[in-house]
Amino acid sequence: MTEEHLRGRRILLGICAGIAAYKTAELARLLAQQGAAVQVVMTRSAHQFIGALTLQAITGRPVRDDLFDPVHEAAMGHIELARWADLVVVAPATADFMARAACGLADDLLTTLCLASPAPLFMAPAMNQAMWQHPATVENVARLGARGTQFLGPAVGPQACGDVGPGRMLEPAQICAALAAQPIPDRPAGEVVQRLPGRRVLVTAGPTREPIDPVRFIANRSSGKMGFAIAAAAAAHGARVTLIAGPVALPSPVGVERHDVETAREMHDRVMAEIPACDIFIACAAVADYRPVEASAQKMKKGASHLALDLARNPDILADVAGGSPRPFCIGFAAETQDLAGYAEQKRRAKALDMIAANDVSASQGFDREDNALLVLWEGGQVSLPRQSKSRLAHRLVELIADRFDAQTAAEDSRSASR
Ligand code: PMT
Repeated sequence: MTEEHLRGRRILLGICAGIAAYKTAELARLLAQQGAAVQVVMTRSAHQFIGALTLQAITGRPVRDDLFDPVHEAAMGHIELARWADLVVVAPATADFMARAACGLADDLLTTLCLASPAPLFMAPAMNQAMWQHPATVENVARLGARGTQFLGPAVGPQACGDVGPGRMLEPAQICAALAAQPIPDRPAGEVVQRLPGRRVLVTAGPTREPIDPVRFIANRSSGKMGFAIAAAAAAHGARVTLIAGPVALPSPVGVERHDVETAREMHDRVMAEIPACDIFIACAAVADYRPVEASAQKMKKGASHLALDLARNPDILADVAGGSPRPFCIGFAAETQDLAGYAEQKRRAKALDMIAANDVSASQGFDREDNALLVLWEGGQVSLPRQSKSRLAHRLVELIADRFDAQTAAEDSRSASR
């Protein structure tokens, strides 16, 4: 299996109610490890066999299970989800699920997606050997196969019920290898589902520099790479993006309007000027919290053995934006070296943010690196996005932001409709 084969692939992973569902957590992990974006869709009864939180933690995406869930449907409707997928795999596929799929039923989210998705459909059956060999199942498998469904397994062997025979789900590694070997055509650009069409997104990136004298300044290690990747990802998702950048050595992302600033106060002023026209504010910059009270007009000469700098607090750009009214959907960043979730959640609450993306910068990641990992927190939810290139991470983050933004907008719309 080549490492890169599933990189960038979007896999809809359906889980039905069978004992083999516990193995699907491992399948999700392997697919994600191969670089695929994995969206789990469970049938209602599958929850009896495996917890949605486990799958959410592995895939970095909230599990979907309801055709009529207004929050998720507002974020990415089932038809959009069906189009999003490059391939659909159902593992385990139970006898009941295959019967419903063979009849063309769309009586829950998973069967609906199987009908609505143009992507190749794979099923990894798992059931008691007698059920697998029953003429009804044999007929259903033939009907599904005739319509193009590809079956992975089942394997023959001892079963959870004590029987021995055909009906064991293939091992996760075998399913993953089979999917990785599939020739999946590249998506034409026009088929990419844009999650932020026409939305106005403002991103801050990079460090700020606080002058001490004409040749020295206070700054930090931020390279701007994370923020620039986010601006590029938001633009790829159809947003109109403005990027306010501290001093960095990076080319502007395609289709993004860029303004360069140097100090925290310049960044504050530029952001405040842009905010009224903005739907979403993503504060990725590592803004200096303090500045020298007075920058010396001339280069300071060394003399005394000790030198104390008198520092003043800079304005908190994100807190000022999030405290405004009206205000955009606000996402902050937190770079922490300990208690990542605890400190990030504190910051989220203190600044009244809609979301916060926390990076653990203790383990040689985050600042000035090509890759990063994020723990994204919001009221009532969190997702861990594993270490990957900043570009891929930015796309995942932007999709998550779009999910939460759409859900919040839908909730606000329904509140104002009921007034
Ligand atoms: O630029 P890279 O090399 O790619 O590295 C990316 C990054 C590590 C800098 C980035 O991912 C990141 O974590 N940025 C935030 C750094 C940080 O710890 O910020 P903070 O805890 O000081 O601030 C919290 C939030 O408030 C941030 O969203 C920050 O932009 C914002 N803030 C902070 C201070 C201030 N005066 N104004 C602000 O807007």
